[in-house]
Amino acid sequence: MSKSLVLYFSRAGNNYSNEGIKNIEIGNTEVIANYIKKYTDADIFKIEPLNEYPTDYMECTEVAKAELNDNARPELKEYLEDISEYDLIYLGFPNWWSTLPMPVWTQLEKLNFEGKIIKPFVTHEGSGFGMSKSDIKKLCPGAKIEKGLSIQGSFVNESENQVKSWINDD
Ligand SMILES: Cc1cc2nc3c(=O)[nH]c(=O)nc-3n(C[C@H](O)[C@H](O)[C@H](O)COP(=O)(O)O)c2cc1C
Repeated sequence: MSKSLVLYFSRAGNNYSNEGIKNIEIGNTEVIANYIKKYTDADIFKIEPLNEYPTDYMECTEVAKAELNDNARPELKEYLEDISEYDLIYLGFPNWWSTLPMPVWTQLEKLNFEGKIIKPFVTHEGSGFGMSKSDIKKLCPGAKIEKGLSIQGSFVNESENQVKSWINDD
């Protein structure tokens, strides 16, 4: 039997939305991750940095930009060590400065993706996947990357049906 995993990063706190800066208790990407969990029997793993990002949106964007410029690999609270039991990985993250948040880079580089199928999903405020798909290709050598799902963060609560049909889309 094939097994799947939802592997994702998401940050709650103040975030930019179509209604301006808003405080969100569950990060946008986490809302999507929970929908996937609801419609599949996938295991789930949240990538969490050891040092949390600032709650303040502007401060967070500055920290994230500095990490990207430094090509940093922030330490994580916990590392997923082995994905050998999974065939399919739903890989989710917010678009940060057109790519994946650096903690996702930290985690992906520790895993062996040879022969795995990746279904990437992103939440964003206008840039969709940005450069992240080509970064995933570099970070996950040997994986087959399938059609991605891109959802604007402000509308995650209305995206359940879209998520459901993407899951079933071969
Ligand atoms: C540090 C940071 C950088 C961001 N950079 C972009 C960007 O380059 N393009 C974009 O469309 N949205 C950008 N956003 C908006 C997020 O991608 C969007 O709000 C996303 O839904 C957040 O997901 P989360 O709540 O799961 O963390 C950025 C947000 C943050 C906090």
